[in-house]
Amino acid sequence: MPVTNRRWVLASRPDGKPSLDNFRLEDQELRDPGEHEVLVKGLYISVDPGMRSRLSGDSYAQALGIGETIEGAMIGTVKASNNERFKTGDLVMGGFGWQEYALSNGRGLAKLDASIFQPPLTVTAAIGVLGIPGLTAYFGLLDMAKPKEGETVLISSAAGPVGATAGQIARMKGCTVVGIAGSRDKCDYVTKELGFDRCFNYEEEKDLVAAIKQACPKGVDIYFDNVGGEMLDAAITNTNERARLIISGAVAEYNRPEPRGIRNTTRLITHRLRMEGLVVFDYFKQFPQAQAEMAGWIKSGKLKYTEDISEGIETTPEAFLGLFEGENHGRRLIKLG
Ligand SMILES: NC(=O)c1ccc[n+]([C@@H]2O[C@H](COP(=O)([O-])OP(=O)(O)OC[C@H]3O[C@@H](n4cnc5c(N)ncnc54)[C@H](OP(=O)(O)O)[C@@H]3O)[C@@H](O)[C@H]2O)c1
Repeated sequence: MPVTNRRWVLASRPDGKPSLDNFRLEDQELRDPGEHEVLVKGLYISVDPGMRSRLSGDSYAQALGIGETIEGAMIGTVKASNNERFKTGDLVMGGFGWQEYALSNGRGLAKLDASIFQPPLTVTAAIGVLGIPGLTAYFGLLDMAKPKEGETVLISSAAGPVGATAGQIARMKGCTVVGIAGSRDKCDYVTKELGFDRCFNYEEEKDLVAAIKQACPKGVDIYFDNVGGEMLDAAITNTNERARLIISGAVAEYNRPEPRGIRNTTRLITHRLRMEGLVVFDYFKQFPQAQAEMAGWIKSGKLKYTEDISEGIETTPEAFLGLFEGENHGRRLIKLG
């Protein structure tokens, strides 16, 4: 039987910081699944800071068109299937965006093994710590930065899902881990609950270079950058020789019409620094191995995660906009009705 889907589409392109007017909630009649197709009813969807670039069209991924469904990850259950790989009731995930239902031809649709998602693992971990944010931390840190015992790892947006995961993995590798976050609560969370060695609240610091110097007295060997802008520049000024700067994201830059430049480029030469951009999908084939390892860490209590879940598809754009105000405590998801 056809269903009425509700979905958020791009109504207009943001100029700088997005606002609610840039999004429109639409009803859409979905036909029954055709040959090889599957109808998925969403349980949870994600909001992701990196999606901001797709609204304007300056990302490595193609820009969203006006009227297109806003991008995000979805966990759902199969309501009807004409695809032999899926049956009604299967728990699945895919990149179906901000909507309540999705019709899929099976490409990009993955079945979740319910036996893995047993306490302490929640099913939502599939689009959080075991999804793109956690994998970004895993590959950015382990494959690109290659941390060595005793090194100092500095992480911006430390309490977010990427930063929190990267910090805990760095601790497992015997590094000293220093976080930067936007509130005392977030700093308490990463130090007291996640085992970071230190953290400072950048909102309370006038001089970022001095704040990093004080928090990292032996200098920075790895900077895991989720923020860009001034913080990146301040981190570069505190690097040791052969430091690795892993550019995961630039959340402080996404809403700026003009990007800010890095001033301290000379240090890249004098200190033989390596700065490298990360696109987690480059590691796609290695995702299952990383997910299995991280699931093991969660089950043994070595890796913790927090989710920040709002209810109802209506809340999605506000939840997204809040990411740029530091409102989220952990991975931000929407529970669908
Ligand atoms: N390269 C890849 O393949 C890839 C994949 C996934 C994600 N990413 C990137 O990884 C980064 C972290 O993503 P996430 O999902 O874990 O989200 P997240 O860190 O929770 O992002 C939201 C947080 O960013 C911080 N923030 C927002 N505006 C800021 C500003 N102007 N200056 C400093 N901090 C600001 C806020 O934390 P505070 O309260 O601490 O300020 C906010 O809570 C993002 O930049 C994202 O785009 C990259």
